[in-house]
Amino acid sequence: MPGAWIVGLCVVVTVGVLAFSSGGSVSAQAQAAGSQAAVEKTFPHSNKCKRCHERVYEEWETSPLAKSIHSPVFRTALDAYLKSPGGKDQALCFRCHAPHVREFPDQAQLFVDQVKGGDPSLDGVACSQCHLIKQVDRAKHPPEPKYEVGGKTLYGPYKDFVQNLAHQSMESSLFQKSDLCLNCHQSVPSAANLGKANDLLGNWDQSRAVKSGKECQTCHMPQQVGESANGEKKRTVANHSFPGRLGKLRQEAAKLDVRTKVEGDKTTVTVKVQSLVPHNLPATHPAWAALVLNLDIKGKNLKTVFSDKRVYGRTYLDAQGQPTIFDFEAVKVADDTVLKPEEMRDETFTFTTPKDTKTFDVEVGLNYAPLTGPPTFLQRVEAESSQGSQDPVFQPIEIVKWTGNVPVSK
Ligand code: HEC
Ligand code: HEC
Ligand code: HEC
Ligand code: HEC
Ligand code: HEC
Repeated sequence: MPGAWIVGLCVVVTVGVLAFSSGGSVSAQAQAAGSQAAVEKTFPHSNKCKRCHERVYEEWETSPLAKSIHSPVFRTALDAYLKSPGGKDQALCFRCHAPHVREFPDQAQLFVDQVKGGDPSLDGVACSQCHLIKQVDRAKHPPEPKYEVGGKTLYGPYKDFVQNLAHQSMESSLFQKSDLCLNCHQSVPSAANLGKANDLLGNWDQSRAVKSGKECQTCHMPQQVGESANGEKKRTVANHSFPGRLGKLRQEAAKLDVRTKVEGDKTTVTVKVQSLVPHNLPATHPAWAALVLNLDIKGKNLKTVFSDKRVYGRTYLDAQGQPTIFDFEAVKVADDTVLKPEEMRDETFTFTTPKDTKTFDVEVGLNYAPLTGPPTFLQRVEAESSQGSQDPVFQPIEIVKWTGNVPVSK
């Protein structure tokens, strides 16, 4: 570690001032570390905030945001992007996965190298990456954040903040608005040639939930009562674990209404899938994101006698007209079965009534699908992961499940 960084740290420890901007010499021997120190003077590392905001830090640490440049599948996809014919902009993926690169375009190589190394010490989407955002320009597609750099002010939700020695605070209404999130969640620039089809959330702003005043934070940063900073008196704070695929929010994603009709040899199961989500489900970046509705019929001895499924996602085509799992290669959407905001989808399954049994079980499950794609890609991800084929990306994640027992009337 270069001297400059250690000095910065000492300053923090002794007088409690964050190592924002200015000063610092680049050591020739440790150029990369020097570059990192420069980046982290402007965007203080999350471990500097941990000291005073322990609760927030511990929540954020468990969130997907804390691993936005760490996952084996991100590493593999980044590599595929950089090797692709259009993969010239080294900073592109980091614009959202480690957005401080926006202020340091010349350091994109440092970000790439750290990801390739497998264990980046640079932050991905951490504290300063959100709390230094002064404004979001929604006229741009995707919307663009304007960072306040070179100052000591952190933006947040409170007008009546308590003063502290490490940073200045400033209230910004942006922190209670969806706009803050949209700059990364609305669309991806790498899929810009898809035009309107590069829309990850759909008509979310027309949804009942949003019209009734809900913002992304209402559901994904639920309010609770706790300490905003260590030792401060309890007040309304926002959960920073960003529930999504992980966490309990998932159980509020959809309802299943299942009806079974036995007519002699023929049985029909109809499933009404009611999405309770005010935006597309799934959001279609990465392009392989999908939900699967599975139906299993278990007859005599609980043996599966019939299985079928429906997939909710998008199929993209590349310039050669071949299906691709990468949005950076996509030029066209071939098929779109994504659940639209608050949509109700009817599915019908017909099969031969199970024989030699008085009843049968109907099992219906809605899950986030495990990673799918060309074998070469899957093998690369497996090789990149310390958990190999046990990497979480290869596991489905259950959203809701319905089971029932149906009599076979004579
Ligand atoms: C600087 C870009 C950026 C901003 C701003 C941002 N996000 Fe994200 N968000 C990401 C990235 C990148 C991921 C994926 C992390 C990963 O899994 O690698 C993510 C993941 C998530 C997830 C988890 C999704 C899942 O599949 O489980 C939720 C929930 C989420 N963000 C909500 C929000 C909300 C709410 C806001 C606004 C308060 C917000 N994000 C602002 C970039 C951003
Ligand atoms: C406009 C912002 C944006 C850009 C640019 C972007 N991503 Fe993402 N990325 C996100 C968000 C937001 C999520 C979380 C999506 C969700 O869970 O719905 C995400 C999730 C992912 C994931 C799944 C989570 C994980 O980390 O394993 C992968 C892989 C990924 N992105 C790869 C890439 C690659 C490769 C690029 C560059 C070609 C890229 N992204 C560019 C915003 C972006
Ligand atoms: C994706 C953007 C994002 C990231 C990453 C993020 N925050 Fe926040 N933070 C917010 C938003 C939005 C609010 C306000 C939410 C509200 O009031 O509804 C907030 C609120 C806060 C508050 C006010 C008190 C509280 O607990 O709610 C503090 C302090 C804070 N954040 C610190 C941090 C720290 C420290 C980190 C890193 C460990 C961090 N934030 C990471 C978006 C983010
Ligand atoms: C020396 C302790 C200390 C350090 C280090 C520190 N903070 Fe704070 N921070 C506080 C205190 C105290 C408050 C006031 C909390 C309150 O008003 O309830 C605060 C408030 C905030 C707020 C709310 C501001 C508002 O007006 O809504 C945010 C956001 C925040 N800090 C983010 C961060 C981030 C990001 C870091 C790391 C870069 C950080 N803090 C480092 C002590 C600290
Ligand atoms: C009314 C509550 C609600 C609001 C408002 C809301 N969401 Fe969601 N969101 C959900 C639920 C429920 C899910 C699905 C279950 C899950 O994954 O937790 C979800 C899933 C997600 C996911 C992960 C799903 C995926 O396909 O990768 C992301 C990312 C996300 N929301 C981002 C946002 C953003 C950005 C906003 C604001 C524009 C927003 N959400 C507004 C309830 C909400």
